[in-house]
Amino acid sequence: MYSLVCIECGKENDEMKYKCICDGLLEVRFDLSRLEIDFKLDGRDLKVWKYRSLLPVKSEPVTLKEGGTPLYRLERLEKELEIRRIYVKHEGLNPSGSFKDRGMTVGITKALELKKTAVACASTGNTSASMAMYAAKSGLKAFVLLPAGKVAIGKVAQALMHGAEVIGIKGNFDDALRIVREVCERAGIYLLNSVNPFRLEGQKTIAYEIVDEIGTPDAVILPVGNAGNISAVFKGFKEFKKLQLIDRVPKMIGIQAKGAAPIYRAFKEGESKITPVTNPETIATAIRIGNPVNARKALRAIHDSKGLVEVVSDHEIISAQRKLAKNGIGVEPASASSVAGLIKLIRNGEIERDSTIVCIATGNLLKDPETVIRVCGEPKMVEADVEKIMSFVTQIS
Ligand code: F0G
Repeated sequence: MYSLVCIECGKENDEMKYKCICDGLLEVRFDLSRLEIDFKLDGRDLKVWKYRSLLPVKSEPVTLKEGGTPLYRLERLEKELEIRRIYVKHEGLNPSGSFKDRGMTVGITKALELKKTAVACASTGNTSASMAMYAAKSGLKAFVLLPAGKVAIGKVAQALMHGAEVIGIKGNFDDALRIVREVCERAGIYLLNSVNPFRLEGQKTIAYEIVDEIGTPDAVILPVGNAGNISAVFKGFKEFKKLQLIDRVPKMIGIQAKGAAPIYRAFKEGESKITPVTNPETIATAIRIGNPVNARKALRAIHDSKGLVEVVSDHEIISAQRKLAKNGIGVEPASASSVAGLIKLIRNGEIERDSTIVCIATGNLLKDPETVIRVCGEPKMVEADVEKIMSFVTQIS
C-alpha cells in the first residue's frame, strides 16, 4: 500500500534506508487510489491514530495518546492585528510537551517492526525528550547526542529521567547529527531524526487534525529548524487534497530565527539548495540549526504551496512568547517564532486581512524555564508576614 521513494530520482528504497544511493531524501508514498479511509472528518476524537489508514505501520502502535492538541482561537490578537481568524495549535500539550511525539509514536513502532533494539538521535532537545519517552515505553535502548550547554534544561531532564544515554558533544546540532548518522549506520541503531521518513508521517497528522476541526486555513505558519515539520505538515494537506477530502492546500509559511536562517536565504535568493550557516545562534535553541537536513523537502513545500519564509529576531521571538502567554498559551521561544513571524508579515502587508491563519506552537513553556527567568526576572521576595504582603498587594492593585 505504500513505498519509500527518493524525492530526487524517484527510485524505490527499502524500509531500512534513510537516503537514496543518489543521496536524495526519502518519502513514504501511499497508493492513495487503493487506500481505504476509515475515519470521518467530523472534528471528533482527534489523535494521531485516528488516521491510521494513512500511517505506514503494520503492527500495534506504541502510543502515549499523542495528538488531539487544542486549536485555540485568539480573538484579542485578531482585533489587534485586524485579521479575520487566528488560531494557535498548541503542540506543547503532547505527552512529552512537543510535536515530536506525533513522529515518535510512528518511528518507535517502526523500530520494533524492523526488530531494532536501540534507537538514537541528535537533538536540540525536544526530539531527545520525546524519543527517550517512547523508547522507555517500548523497552528500547536510547542514545541521545546533544550540543553541550545549548539545550534547554527541561528537555535534558526529560531525556535523563526517561532513561536515555545522554551524551553532550562540544559542537552544535549539525555536528551531532552528522556524527549520530554515522554511528547508527555502523552500530545498526535505528535513527530517529527527521531524516527518517516514518517519523515525518506521524507529524503530518497536524494537518489532518486542522482540517478535521476547521477545514483548510489560508496559511499555516510554523518555526523551521531541521525543516522536517513544515515538509510533513504540507504532505498531510497534499494527501487530503489528492484524496479529495479538501479542494485546496494552505500556504506553508516557515519562520526562522535571524541567526540560523539558511532556508530563508535560499528562499530569498530563489535557490533550491541551501548554503549552511556555520555558527548558528539564537535564543530559540530548538531551532539553532545551520544545516537543515530536510531543506530540499521544505523548499519544495513552500514553493508548491505558494508560501514563503520570514526571519525574526530574538527580541521579536520573546515578545511573541509574552504575547501568547498573556493569551493563556505557554510556549517555549522557538514555538513563539510562528506568531512573531505572523506579526511581522502582517506589518509588512504580506497577509490578507480576510485570512484564516493557523500558527503552530511547537513546544511547551516548561521546556525552557531558564530563559523565562532571564526574561521575566526572579520572583519578588517579601517577608512571610501578612501586613507586609498586604501592603505589597495593595500597592500593586
Ligand atoms: N519548534 C521546536 C520546539 C522544536 O523543537 C523544533 C525542532 C522545531 C520547532 C523545528 O522543527 O526541525 O522539523 O523544522 N527541534 C529538533 C529537536 C531539531 O532536536 O528537538 P523542524
